[in-house]
Amino acid sequence: MIPTPHINVAEKGIIAETVLLPGDPLRAKFIAENYLDNPVQFNSVRNMYGYTGTYKGKKISVKGTGMGMPSIGIYSYELIHFYGVKNLIRIGSCGSLQKDVKVRDIVVGMAACTNSNYANQYNLPGTFAPVASWELLRKAVDIAGQKGIDVKVGNILSSDTFYDDDPEDWKKWARMGVLAVEMEAAALYMNAARAGVNALCILTVSDSLVSHEATTSEERQNSFTQMMDIALELA
Ligand code: ADE
Repeated sequence: MIPTPHINVAEKGIIAETVLLPGDPLRAKFIAENYLDNPVQFNSVRNMYGYTGTYKGKKISVKGTGMGMPSIGIYSYELIHFYGVKNLIRIGSCGSLQKDVKVRDIVVGMAACTNSNYANQYNLPGTFAPVASWELLRKAVDIAGQKGIDVKVGNILSSDTFYDDDPEDWKKWARMGVLAVEMEAAALYMNAARAGVNALCILTVSDSLVSHEATTSEERQNSFTQMMDIALELA
């Protein structure tokens, strides 16, 4: 069934087997124009831009996912099941839940807790633990080490809410050792697990629920560049 309802690409080979997935479609455009050689736009449905180009001669795509689990759930499902994508690398931002995870740090999501009901669709007789691809995780950590980039690796929280009714809720996740909160990884990890493909989530810390610090996107540029260095090398 291609084109799909949300990606207007009629042929399979146009999207690479490895796709970088920022939440913001304009970030996808920026990455394509600044990091890829010969980028060609493949999607414009809902302005959720996607591009394919090359990096060091290797074909790679980058596509916006929008915010939240339903949105990344749709795009990652279509990329996997209709366009043959095998490696899905989310690159995004997160809020720190721990004192020693500072703004501008880089967090790699080894696993993703969630307050969402996304896993309900699988009718499991218990709860599911969404985890990153071990291959991608190990490679990302190796690449960061080789480049001298410090990364915090651990559990993250994919939340359905950015504005919580109880502003103290995050502390319950923090005391379970969860490093940071974002809004997409758990759905990505579940879609990848169900389909037997690889997914990883790499994040820069944009704000801290602990210290109440926040960074502007200009201030995040250096950590964004480091995150991109890891993601592109990984691809
Ligand atoms: N992404 C970046 N910061 C976040 C936060 N504080 N909560 C949820 N998602 C985020």
